[in-house]
Amino acid sequence: MSVGTGGIQKAEKSGGEPRKVSSATLLRRLLALALEYRRPCVMVVLMQTVLVILSLSTLGLTGVGIDYLSSQVLSNGETPHWPFGISPPASWSPVQVIVVLSLTILAVAMLTAGLKYLAAVASGALSQHILIRLRTEIYAKLQRLGFQFYDSGESSSIINRAAGDANNVRNFVDGVIIRLITVFLTLTVFLAYMFRMHVELTLACLATTPLLWVGAVVFSRMVQPAYRRASELGDVMIRTLVENLQGIQVVKGFARESEQADKFRAANHDIRDLKTSIFFRISTFQPAMGLLTQANMLVLIGYGGVLVIRGELALGAGLFVFANLLHEFANQVAHITNIVNSIQSSLASAERVFEVLDEPIRIQSSPAAARISAVLQGIEFDNVSFGYSPEKQVIRNVSLRINAGECVGITGPTGAGKSTLLSLLKRFYDVESGRILIDGTDVRDLNLSDVRRLMGIVFQESFLFSNTVAANIAFGDPEATQERIEEAARIASADSFIRELPDGYQSMVGEHGSNLSGGQRQRLSLARAMLTNPSVLLLDDATASVDPETEHEIREAMVSAMRGRTTIIVSNRLSTLRQTDRIVVLRNGVIEAVGTHDELLRTSDYYRELSDLQSRHELEQKELDQNEETDDGQAMTIHMTGANRVSGRRMTRVV
Ligand SMILES: Nc1ncnc2c1ncn2[C@@H]1O[C@H](COP(=O)(O)OP(=O)(O)OP(=O)(O)O)[C@@H](O)[C@H]1O
Ligand SMILES: [Mg+2]
Repeated sequence: MSVGTGGIQKAEKSGGEPRKVSSATLLRRLLALALEYRRPCVMVVLMQTVLVILSLSTLGLTGVGIDYLSSQVLSNGETPHWPFGISPPASWSPVQVIVVLSLTILAVAMLTAGLKYLAAVASGALSQHILIRLRTEIYAKLQRLGFQFYDSGESSSIINRAAGDANNVRNFVDGVIIRLITVFLTLTVFLAYMFRMHVELTLACLATTPLLWVGAVVFSRMVQPAYRRASELGDVMIRTLVENLQGIQVVKGFARESEQADKFRAANHDIRDLKTSIFFRISTFQPAMGLLTQANMLVLIGYGGVLVIRGELALGAGLFVFANLLHEFANQVAHITNIVNSIQSSLASAERVFEVLDEPIRIQSSPAAARISAVLQGIEFDNVSFGYSPEKQVIRNVSLRINAGECVGITGPTGAGKSTLLSLLKRFYDVESGRILIDGTDVRDLNLSDVRRLMGIVFQESFLFSNTVAANIAFGDPEATQERIEEAARIASADSFIRELPDGYQSMVGEHGSNLSGGQRQRLSLARAMLTNPSVLLLDDATASVDPETEHEIREAMVSAMRGRTTIIVSNRLSTLRQTDRIVVLRNGVIEAVGTHDELLRTSDYYRELSDLQSRHELEQKELDQNEETDDGQAMTIHMTGANRVSGRRMTRVV
């Protein structure tokens, strides 16, 4: 098994280096994406083509108008070439002709405006469609990816990929493909029109065009690495922001607000500097290209002027139209710089987006996976070893059988691998060697969703969603009735505090449960785990942050709830451990001892020490409580709970 080799981490390390996936491969995939949207793309391109033809018509009509005027005003003015040979009746006065011409131009202009509106709407709808599809695909993939991916990646980078990078990839379809086709079509139509008017003049005017292409290629090479770096700097900025928001208590607690603000400013300045350098390159290239196209105008005035004087070229339908076409030609070529720019930013982002979409799903149901709805015989760790990274094993040769209906406690020092054991059981990770069996079947051969649903879990750090209390409890089964929600809350000893909340079960829980105490959060998580009535209950230090009285309350309620269930409780509290059928002492990923409370007192040094410390602490606690009663309310005693208390020093603060 390859552990910790998620693609994201590799990408993070590569800061601004040339990309690992070739541009050709990425281009091919982007083209395939565009091809899926060929219908709306063709629609938009068709509309753009009609727009080009309409703009040509306006130009042509204006040119004819100029020629008509010159034929009327100048003695040597030539007769205009009317489009499609439709000339105005001889009976019309010059003013009538000009008015009709103007009205025709106005009609074309209105048609153009209407079509531009339609093209903009179609193009906007297409881009939103692609963007939402990409984001949904990334999100769906993120839901399926295992913890390994998240361990090796960074959430800020993932957020940026779904937000900023997806948008750049979307831009490839409407900002690159459609525009490229439009520009190509426009240039072709213009060129054809110009060649039809005068071949030599066209060739002379466009002599500098190959230089424009060379410029575009040079420009593309210059901006390529910068775009990748820009996405990575975006990650840093989002990380600073998200971490600061999530850790706001720590930030304020240590009065580091201004330093955090500086850090955020610095992250933004880095982005600004990089973007400035990109803009600088764009800004240098665009005028340079503009200058080249202006050279064309010089040729036109010189050579074209001579042709007009010689009578080889009409003034309006010839020189005027030609000048405008050249101008439009230059505009379209300037678009090419933007398109090249967009291609580069799309390629940089595409690599980051495809990295997520291509990330293999390592943990999933095998095709022949068996279904399971309850544990009937038991759970077995069979010589299991596991490490989050290949260098360090966290669980080593663990063998343990837990019978159905049994309640097993796991205890051990911090970092021993207790939470990891539960994660392996839930198949958040797959074992490196050995097997985990449920009713004799390897978990890898069982339906993954079944395995996850089979076991209710209360995580060590409870996470709640920004939703109502009821919705948080019913997370595992949104269809649950109010009675079931309340029943689960009662078992978790959460019912009474929920009723005291302003809106009871409909009270909103702040982000991450910010408006609840640690103990309340834990009890809600417990209720959430109880709601689905799981066959197995995994409690990871579920009562660590509740006071001994509430813990007692929860324990009482749990005794009945645990009946008929297989339960694994990770705890360092003696009172909790004593309630279990068997206790496992885990140290450094190895099972050191297994037995009942009384057996372990004899066989395990660690357990004896834990027991001594806590018994001593309980004694002190009693002593303190007695003092409190006799102190007549003069002194407030601060209780210290938990196994870590070392000395019997009493902390008393006079109030
Ligand atoms: N996602 C992870 N990636 C890498 N290492 C991890 C990860 N989670 C835990 N570890 C490491 O694995 C070891 C066991 O961690 P685990 O969380 O299982 O300990 P624990 O016994 O539950 O400790 P505690 O009592 O503090 O909760 C620790 O050394 C920890 O640093
Ligand atoms: Mg733990």
